[in-house]
Amino acid sequence: MKILVAGASGVIGRVLVPMLTTRGHDVIALSRHNPSDTRNQESRVRYMMADVFDRSNLLSIFERECPAAVIHLLTDLKEQNSAANARIRDIGTRNLVDAAKAVAVNKMVAQSIAWAYEGGEGAATELTALDYAASLPRKTTIDGVVSLEGAVKEMPKHTILRLGTLYGPGTWYERHGAVAQTVYDGKMIATGAITSFLHVVDAATAFVQALVWPDGPVNIVDDDPASALVWLPEYARELGAPAPLRNEEPVLKTRAVSNQKARDLGWTPAHPSWRGGFLS
Ligand SMILES: NC(=O)c1ccc[n+]([C@@H]2O[C@H](COP(=O)([O-])OP(=O)(O)OC[C@H]3O[C@@H](n4cnc5c(N)ncnc54)[C@H](OP(=O)(O)O)[C@@H]3O)[C@@H](O)[C@H]2O)c1
Repeated sequence: MKILVAGASGVIGRVLVPMLTTRGHDVIALSRHNPSDTRNQESRVRYMMADVFDRSNLLSIFERECPAAVIHLLTDLKEQNSAANARIRDIGTRNLVDAAKAVAVNKMVAQSIAWAYEGGEGAATELTALDYAASLPRKTTIDGVVSLEGAVKEMPKHTILRLGTLYGPGTWYERHGAVAQTVYDGKMIATGAITSFLHVVDAATAFVQALVWPDGPVNIVDDDPASALVWLPEYARELGAPAPLRNEEPVLKTRAVSNQKARDLGWTPAHPSWRGGFLS
């Protein structure tokens, strides 16, 4: 199948593209910059530079290439700016969906997040409401997610992967990543906030499998949601960083997330827990 991967040079895309070609797919790898390392480039991948905010250029690429499916991995977090990320979720997704619909692309698989659910007891499933009532600054993120998911649902076939917090190569959690630096500096405080993690390789595997999954959202998280009071000291130990300060006050609005639906669809994480493996 010919698949256009938007955001192919990012943390998931770099792992996903070779997985797709190994399975016999042809990939149009789209981002604004040429990859710095094309040693592994092979004939099944064609790199294309385009800015998703340039609608007419995007449309001409779709008209020329006519992909059968689109994988949407666009994020704008390089500067850790949630407003920029909400903008690409909103306007970038709008442009991508319009271009895909214009040439009758059948299927889109898109990246969303697993931490947009409303607060409450028990693990959130895909039937749990998103946190529509969130106030700023969280509202910026929720609005971006709602806009992205709404646009992707306009595609004839659409699967939305609500990913957990990514760790592994290239992420903020690797040894020299942005989160690691905050922990080395002793600036990250362990609270009761719950995180559902996801290794970047397991994220990529889910995108491959989701090409044939039914419509709708699917949570892609590991089996081991944990409070920062538990995972952060372990992460600091792995890094060789100082033990973090603790704040044991209860934290609202964070909850565990269930991966039961993904498991029922046949996805099994190779990294079922973050324990001892943050730097893997
Ligand atoms: N679920 C999660 O926890 C999660 C999800 C995503 C990212 N992150 C974190 O965020 C860190 C870095 O963020 P990132 O935003 O660089 O994410 P990224 O997922 O590593 O990359 C985003 C992708 O989108 C492309 N892109 C961005 N703006 C574009 C535009 N206007 N037009 C076309 N393509 C565009 C980028 O390529 P170009 O820049 O070349 O255009 C890149 O291929 C990661 O290392 C990871 O730790 C976490």
